Amino acid sequence: MGNVFVLDHPLIQHKLTYIRKTDTGTKEFRELVDEVSGLMAFEITRDLPLQETTIETPVTTTKAKVLSGKKIGLVPILRAGLGMVDGVLRHIPAARVGHVGLYRDPETLTPVEYYIKLPSDINERELIVIDPMLATGGSATDAIASLKKRGATNIKLMCLIAAPEGVELIKKEHPDVDIYLAALDEKLNEKGYIVPGLGDAGDRLFGTK
Ligand code: PRP
Ligand code: URA
Repeated sequence: MGNVFVLDHPLIQHKLTYIRKTDTGTKEFRELVDEVSGLMAFEITRDLPLQETTIETPVTTTKAKVLSGKKIGLVPILRAGLGMVDGVLRHIPAARVGHVGLYRDPETLTPVEYYIKLPSDINERELIVIDPMLATGGSATDAIASLKKRGATNIKLMCLIAAPEGVELIKKEHPDVDIYLAALDEKLNEKGYIVPGLGDAGDRLFGTK
C-alpha cells in the first residue's frame, strides 16, 4: 500500500507560507517553489541505494559510499510541474526528464492529455511524477496511468499541496504509489481549488491569467 509523507520540516513550512500568500509576486513565487522542491528532493531520495567504494583521502585509504547508480526519471505534469523540476535536478542532476501535458477542463475538472514524451527506458527507472497541486487527483491519476501503460512499474508522486480528495483518489487508483507532500490541506472548494491552497499554481508560476 502506498504511503503518504507530509514533509513538515521547518524550512519547507516557512517557505510554503510565503508561497501561499496572495501578495507573493511571480518572481518570488517561482524562486520559493524551486527552493522547496529542492528540499523535498532530500526526503524523496532517502531510500536510494548506496554501494561501497574505496577512495584515497589526503590522509589514508578508506571505504566510502556512493549512489549505486539507480536510474531516476522526473516526470513533471505540464505546465505547473515544470516549476519544480530544476530544484530536484540540482540534487539528482543525472535524472532524465519526461513530460506529460495535461490540463483540467474548467467545466468538468477532468484532465485532458495533450502531450507526452518520456525516456525510452521508463520501465527500468524510478519515476518521480511532479506537480505542485493534487486537487481532485484526476490529473495525477491519469498521468500515472499513462506511465504505467507505457511500462513504468516504480512511481512516486511529489506535490507541494494536496487536498484529501486527491490523496484518496491516488490511494484508490494507484495503491502502489508513495505520495510526498509539503502540506495536506483541508478540502476542495466548489471550483475544485484547494483550500486554503495557493490559488492557481500554473498562473502564479508563469504570470498568466
Ligand atoms: C493544475 C495543477 C495540476 C492540476 C491539479 O493544473 O498543476 O496539474 O491542476 O488538479 P486535479 O488534481 O484536480 O487534476 P492545470 O490543469 O491548472 O494546468 P496548468 O498546469 O497548465 O496550469
Ligand atoms: N490546480 C491549481 O493550480 N490549484 C488548485 O488549487 C487546484 C488545482
